[in-house]
Amino acid sequence: MASNGKYNAAKLALELVKDGMVLGIGSGSTVEIFLNLLGERIKREDMEVYGVPTSYQSYYAAIRNRVRVVDLVEYEPELCIDGADQVDAKMNCIKGGGGALTREKIVAKASKKVVIIVDEGKLVEKLSMPIPVEVLPFAYGYVSKKLKELGAEVKLRHGSGKVGPVVTDNGNFVLDCDFGVLEDEAVEETEESVKLITGIVESGIFPKKMIDQVIAGSSNSTRFL
Ligand code: A5P
Repeated sequence: MASNGKYNAAKLALELVKDGMVLGIGSGSTVEIFLNLLGERIKREDMEVYGVPTSYQSYYAAIRNRVRVVDLVEYEPELCIDGADQVDAKMNCIKGGGGALTREKIVAKASKKVVIIVDEGKLVEKLSMPIPVEVLPFAYGYVSKKLKELGAEVKLRHGSGKVGPVVTDNGNFVLDCDFGVLEDEAVEETEESVKLITGIVESGIFPKKMIDQVIAGSSNSTRFL
């Protein structure tokens, strides 16, 4: 098992799922563990669970695990389960390590309740890692300049298995933007000023007001924040 913390957090989140529920399904390895556990439960208890996935990764993992894939046209998720890359002491999060931040934010905002599941190693006092920002390829040069003017160090994300930039499920680039340490009071303001730059689709800043609960797992315990 990759990380017991991820597994334990996913296992506790599983208890929040009820028969007939519509889920928002985030992306990443912790969500994949959650979906595998959910699949076992669906089979065991003959449940019916619907889900709106946020990436090709979680789309296929949902199908493999007997979750009925639906969309936001007809369904409003009751509960969104997602991972995060960093969670601060106030529950502000940075997401987008897997490049799925835009659909993750849409589905989180469309859901009635948002629960983040993480290994406790993701918990920090203050957010400090580079913030992933999804940008239209055409706007890349302009957007980089504007982000630098806001004080960020900007890096175009390159992947493996393909030369050149990472291309998201939406056909866009990802810029990792280092703003240094983000105090709680600066989180929302930074999200807003980044979002105002024309050409930016979305940022990986998920302010605390979007998050209802965080489940942090370690190798031998799990806790709600
Ligand atoms: C995907 O873009 C991300 O937001 C993930 O939710 C985040 O990177 C957490 O991933 P892991 O669960 O793999 O750590």
